[in-house]
Amino acid sequence: MSVDTGKILDGRACSQELKDALKLRVAALAKRGIVPGLATVLVGDDPASKVYVANKHKDCTEVGIKSFHVNLPASTTEGNLVERVKEYNENPLVHGILVQLPLPKQVDVENILACIDPRKDVDGFHPQNLGNLLRGNGKHFFTSCTPAGIVHLLKWAKVDMKGMDAVIVNRSNIVGKPLVPLLLQENATVQVCHTGTRDLVGHCSRADLVVAGTGKARMFTPEYFKKGAIVVDVGMNRTEQGLCGDVDFSAVVDKVAKITPVPGGVGLMTRAMLLQNTVTAAES
Ligand code: GUN
Repeated sequence: MSVDTGKILDGRACSQELKDALKLRVAALAKRGIVPGLATVLVGDDPASKVYVANKHKDCTEVGIKSFHVNLPASTTEGNLVERVKEYNENPLVHGILVQLPLPKQVDVENILACIDPRKDVDGFHPQNLGNLLRGNGKHFFTSCTPAGIVHLLKWAKVDMKGMDAVIVNRSNIVGKPLVPLLLQENATVQVCHTGTRDLVGHCSRADLVVAGTGKARMFTPEYFKKGAIVVDVGMNRTEQGLCGDVDFSAVVDKVAKITPVPGGVGLMTRAMLLQNTVTAAES
């Protein structure tokens, strides 16, 4: 099957452009004697989380960001984790802090995210950053990387979201919730669907833009989309056939106007946005 490449929302090309621009900003910072620094905190040894963190370090090296890392045992107490975050808050060489989620159940994730310095919260998960983003007052320091990456990719591909009926199939604090204000900012009409939604196919198939983030490999088949829809696939499912998204790409691609591939779509945008947030943190 040949795919019309004009349909592909190319996260690889878009993220590469972003990274090239960041290299220039890193060089400008070097002239001021500043090396941007990103600290990652990993608790336990979940294989997927380990891969995500390793990729972040590789990306940092590519654009000239110094990475710091601590890996704590799965049995770590909340107090211990808070101490490590506070050390990074105080460290002037660290401009961005990322605590990899999920965290083990003895740790209250809300307490951890709230103790990250909001000016170093390059994930945009601190309640002050997420709250101000939602309020639309321009006072948030950072926007969560996946939603920011999605909107950046759509704008880069000249998708005008004004007036679009957008359906987000995800209500997480990481993706669905922060994506709502970003799409509202673009003047889309936004609906959020989730596991309690009665007629998911009905909602999706009326939408101009569908953001699919259920974590179920290839569940979005052609009946979920109207002809000419824009499809953003947030899924990252490891299957026996390799990495695949939540959208059945090959079954859907002929029907829709534009679609993000997996891999090569949203994941790369998320990674580039983290680098961008870290460089921005170092500049300010
Ligand atoms: N776990 C899954 N996605 C993310 C992310 O974007 N940031 C962090 N910190 N943890 C995650």
